[in-house]
Amino acid sequence: MGRRNRRKNVDGIQLSGIADKGRAVGRDEKGQVYFLEGGVPGDEVNAIILRKKKGVPFGVVKEITKASPDRIEPFCKHFELCGGCKWQHLSYEKQLFHKELQVKNAIQRIARIEAHQWEDVLSCNQTKHYRNKLEYSFSSARWMTEEEIESGKEIADKKGLGFNKSGTFDKVIDLEECYLQPEPSNEIRNWLRSYTKGNGFEYYNSRSRKGWLRNIMLRNNRDGEFMVLLSVAYKNEKQLFPLLDAMKDAFPAISSIYYVVSDKLNSITIDLPYHHFFGKEVLEERLGNVQFHIGPKSFFQTNTLQAEKLYDVVKEYAAFDGSENVYDLYTGLGSIALYVADSVHSITGIEEIKEAIYYAEQNKELNKIHNAKFYAGDCKDILTDEFIKKHGKADVIITDPPRVGMHKEVVETILRAEPKKIVYVSCNPATQARDINLLSEKYVVEKIRAVDMFPHTHHVETVALLTRILTK
Ligand SMILES: C[S@@+](CC[C@H](N)C(=O)[O-])C[C@H]1O[C@@H](n2cnc3c(N)ncnc32)[C@H](O)[C@@H]1O
Repeated sequence: MGRRNRRKNVDGIQLSGIADKGRAVGRDEKGQVYFLEGGVPGDEVNAIILRKKKGVPFGVVKEITKASPDRIEPFCKHFELCGGCKWQHLSYEKQLFHKELQVKNAIQRIARIEAHQWEDVLSCNQTKHYRNKLEYSFSSARWMTEEEIESGKEIADKKGLGFNKSGTFDKVIDLEECYLQPEPSNEIRNWLRSYTKGNGFEYYNSRSRKGWLRNIMLRNNRDGEFMVLLSVAYKNEKQLFPLLDAMKDAFPAISSIYYVVSDKLNSITIDLPYHHFFGKEVLEERLGNVQFHIGPKSFFQTNTLQAEKLYDVVKEYAAFDGSENVYDLYTGLGSIALYVADSVHSITGIEEIKEAIYYAEQNKELNKIHNAKFYAGDCKDILTDEFIKKHGKADVIITDPPRVGMHKEVVETILRAEPKKIVYVSCNPATQARDINLLSEKYVVEKIRAVDMFPHTHHVETVALLTRILTK
């Protein structure tokens, strides 16, 4: 069935709020609920319904019949198609309001508890070019615009380089501009497109699994240096090496180049060897007074300026007096552990990616920090009762899990360890609320604060301070 045949038009939907994944939610005059892309609470719209999930229609806004007062003009020309910054049409003030609401809803509805203190959402001073890492995909079958399809003309050039169209694994929006990363991010991507097209290099096709160029990751630091990681489907040094050489010559800002060869079905390459091609092996960055060496596989907060603010909230919530034995779970390259090390007696970080722990150790040496220890492995396997016995009673546990939240066994170990405080940093209010609900058997939420790390998206970071309920 074609793109159009599955569609249904519905008129007169009144949008009232924001739901899962940042979609606007609203009702028609019969009270039917709809989840729509492209809407703003307060809009009255006509919509195209694309699918139903558990009986609820999901779709996109086709026409705005009455615009919400919170609606603003998006600044990026790819806004309608690109899934990157879906909230550009909502004023920044209202974005913050809805992020805070998302956290409140999760705590109240999923955790079913009340926080003692809700602190105001922490906003970003810089709402454009705030990311220090982006990944663009190559595709031999880019996303076609409605105009291109309707023109009926044969399109010879189907190559695209940009972000995946949301909801597709094989269609890429051919980006000309993006406001997420500082320059020369756009210049590198656009140069790469014209160089590779000019040389007739094949772009990958995720459906047929044919083609050569797959992805490019660009990472930058505050000094304006860039690290590049190019992913190709098979080794072809005759094409690859001149391409990487030309890129480095064209962009003096590129201080490090890696490549990876991946014939995997998905685009995840972290489990494959990365080959160092040029320049420095790491990017150097600093947060507060702490220096970091960031490798191509390391997790590092993607908004550097806001990461400092986030870690300051962690420090403020923990309110260390210098005597504490602390655990930093899901430590990445030890960022939080090293950031707070000078305020505590000792700190132990756990992280599953070995390379990140390798850099955590390097970063510890680099900063002459002597009271931090790092361990590589799954938190549920490393953080056992024996481990805690060996490394000392936990006064404070800082935890910053991935979107899935903490494994139940980790929550259970924390409950047995009974730290006085838990500082829970999360990028997913729903899983954080689920875990807080499990912890509520022994803990109360003292304070909670949403932190905006990703303007113009629905993503929100949260820091919650949980304190142990004192038993008589
Ligand atoms: C949200 S990041 C936090 C990193 C770090 N706290 C920071 O601020 O940069 C989550 C980290 O958890 C790691 N991770 C994911 N699952 C894990 C697990 N089961 N055990 C240990 N670490 C895990 C990821 O590799 C990632 O580095």
